[in-house]
Amino acid sequence: MRRKIVHVGAGQLTYEIRQIVGVARQIEGFGRDIKWENIGDPVEKGVAIEPWMKEIITELTSDDLSYRYADSQGVPETRQFLADLANSRKGAGVNADDIIFFNGLGDAVAKIFGFLKREARIIGPSPAYSTHSSAEAAHSGYEHLTYTLDPNNNWLPDLEDLRNKVKYNDSIAGILLINPDNPTGIVYSRELLQEIVDIAARHDLFIIADETYCNVVFPGVEFTYINEVIGKVPAISMKSVSKEYPWPGARCGWIEVYNRDRDEEFDTYILSLINAKRLEVCSTTLPQLSIPPIMGDARYPEHIAKQSAELASRAAEAFSYMKDVDGVSVIMPQGALYFTVLFEEGVLNENQHLKIAEDDIREYIEKITSGMPLDKRFVYYLLGAEGICVVPLTGFCSELKGFRFTLLEIDAEKRSQIYRAIAARVKEFLGSD
Ligand SMILES: Cc1ncc(COP(=O)(O)O)c(C=O)c1O
Repeated sequence: MRRKIVHVGAGQLTYEIRQIVGVARQIEGFGRDIKWENIGDPVEKGVAIEPWMKEIITELTSDDLSYRYADSQGVPETRQFLADLANSRKGAGVNADDIIFFNGLGDAVAKIFGFLKREARIIGPSPAYSTHSSAEAAHSGYEHLTYTLDPNNNWLPDLEDLRNKVKYNDSIAGILLINPDNPTGIVYSRELLQEIVDIAARHDLFIIADETYCNVVFPGVEFTYINEVIGKVPAISMKSVSKEYPWPGARCGWIEVYNRDRDEEFDTYILSLINAKRLEVCSTTLPQLSIPPIMGDARYPEHIAKQSAELASRAAEAFSYMKDVDGVSVIMPQGALYFTVLFEEGVLNENQHLKIAEDDIREYIEKITSGMPLDKRFVYYLLGAEGICVVPLTGFCSELKGFRFTLLEIDAEKRSQIYRAIAARVKEFLGSD
């Protein structure tokens, strides 16, 4: 090429959750049945969509107006509905114009980081949800800046670490948090959120709160929305229908912007996101139209409660299989769709392996695991030996070794087989050298 055309951040675009699919497909090609425990798609795992929701969506498909473009920011009535919902909580308010729809939060993340000044950095949690960490790293051209989620303190943010990094790095313009968190499943208390908001206030930063899983909170766990504690700090909340209805294929997510009028620079930045959306015309119309009739239906809270209770009981089941395995530690999640297992410091080495009877699979795994991070090595062996596809923790922008699997298997027998097999294979792997 006459000119270099590759973006400075191109090498940062990694998404382990899907990259492992290529390896799994190879192993499937050798005849192994794959159990997909890597991606948080409840529909792919066979969840039945509530019939009443399908009726509402079916009716919308019969209305010609569902096929038009929406306003660039999204359908006005839906934005008003969501603004009313946010305003029903005591805290920072929004109006319909503070809500902007995207083609899923994946699109929102790309725009939020893509239209941020390159030198302005967002510090986010580690382990990190890779869409955020990769997008932030790609935008800046450097490795993603992170604060530690501490496995010795229930995966809660190490606030001292966050405070110090914010204090001594003045390129940091904002703090990202994910609540409930992916991959750890931890839900932040009101006090903790307040402390993060205080750090932002003290250093004149804005907050991005990814609240994708705000309606996937396990029974008995109290959830606090960011707008309840944000005070006067500028902030963005990200929400989506992907995990709630669930309808990930709708590609329908939105941001709620709080305290836009309190900072001119922040306001101009938000305007740039709206302008970017205008260039794109708009986001998916029909899923937006479905939000007021579905989320406003009396059956919706029941649906949310039932779904969360099911996930909580599966998390308890996974916990019961993993808690006594030597060499790993686990923390009971409080929300979201995942379970994270952490290898203890020093238990992994590069001689460990799992028995794989089939020569072709064993040879393939031996070949691709050489020189790889040690948790990823376990994950690939697990894939080869059992066909169980999980994601290594080092794929979540983390130096900690471990892996994440989903709580989405609906078949009780298959689920317990999977969890039991994971526990047994961890024991075999750790004792294999
Ligand atoms: C924390 C978090 N944020 C955002 C997303 C993206 O969601 P969407 O389907 O709206 O793009 C996900 C998807 O798994 C997620 O886990």
